[in-house]
Amino acid sequence: MTRSDHLKVLLVAGARPNFMKIAPIIRALRAGGHEAILVHTGQHYDEAMSDAFFRDLDIPEPNHHLGVGTGTHAVQTAKIMELFEPVLMAERPDWVLVVGDVNSTLAAALVAAKLKYTIGCRVAHVEAGLRANDWRMPEEVNRVLTDRLSDLLLTPSTDVATNIEREGIPADRVKFVGNVMIDTLMTQLEKARGTNTLERLGLRRRHYVAATLHRPSNVDDRDALAAVLDGLARVADTLPVVLPLHPRTRKNIERFHMHAKLAPLVILEPLPYTEMLALVDGAQAVLTDSGGIQEETTALGVPCVTLREQTERPITITQGTNRLAPWPLTATGIFGAYVDAVESVKEGAPQRPLGWDGHASERIVQALVEAGK
Ligand code: UD1
Repeated sequence: MTRSDHLKVLLVAGARPNFMKIAPIIRALRAGGHEAILVHTGQHYDEAMSDAFFRDLDIPEPNHHLGVGTGTHAVQTAKIMELFEPVLMAERPDWVLVVGDVNSTLAAALVAAKLKYTIGCRVAHVEAGLRANDWRMPEEVNRVLTDRLSDLLLTPSTDVATNIEREGIPADRVKFVGNVMIDTLMTQLEKARGTNTLERLGLRRRHYVAATLHRPSNVDDRDALAAVLDGLARVADTLPVVLPLHPRTRKNIERFHMHAKLAPLVILEPLPYTEMLALVDGAQAVLTDSGGIQEETTALGVPCVTLREQTERPITITQGTNRLAPWPLTATGIFGAYVDAVESVKEGAPQRPLGWDGHASERIVQALVEAGK
């Protein structure tokens, strides 16, 4: 490697779904002899939402921790921007690499896009091009704007190229690299299967359903949350339904005095990565409003029902095991979608979309090297 091939890449992560994406990229960068600097914004800060993932996935200690915590969208985004700017000025990397669609992603991309002509860096977005076409989702705003600000759009599946083209972003900025979440899934699957997660919870493989719930549209509104919890309870008449509770969901259940609706369910704290993977891998089916879990179930061949009106990951429906529950969500609709999902997905080796092969992080590093400094 010549000096001009050696890259300094500053990676930004802040919230739980970022951590499994940066882990393999940091490893691949370092294996390629590049410098990886990690900034943790602190958007997620609980032991279970953050530290457990760093330990579990062997992510190095962040070089910078911004400690921003919770706030309204404006406050959280502004705080990240304010604290990230001096870090970027001091580090002067060749690339700022942001992942996913959380507030930390957009905040860092925006700071970098404004400083890049001063300090000579560029912005790369991993998981570019996803669109739900629903501007009520904060993540949609983050996706569209981050892509607009990025010099290199690294896409997880081939179907998203048309979304980017439609927005007038030049095709030479776009590079298909595949799905980096699946890199982590593939390196952790054996370890996950070796944990005693199911025994500890008294569960038998394929004899329970796993659920996750945290989207504001499902959990911030009393009626929506009641409908979803009633749907899970309906499924729990058939098999145990295990629900690790996201802090946002827990807070709202308390606020709406809905504890009684949890009684039919097996409620857990948020799980570390490998335990969650073990839970999803062993489930008969998964009911979720998460983005990442739609992809993980497809990679594992586990039937998935998505508790949303649309998905930014349609490839998990066209090529995978996912389906949308009928909208608006009702207990009967959720139960019907669950029955359909279980009946229509056959056991056997999962069909994985192109580029969901465990090597996306290597292609990401290659793309950065090809794009140069
Ligand atoms: C964020 C992301 C979402 C992602 C989700 C995964 C945005 C806009 N949203 O949503 O895309 O799917 O993370 O979890 O960036 N909380 C804690 N402890 C923590 C983190 C959060 O108690 O470690 C509480 C906060 O106090 C807050 C609530 O959870 O009340 C929401 O946190 P926030 O980071 O604002 O958004 P999420 O709902 O987690």
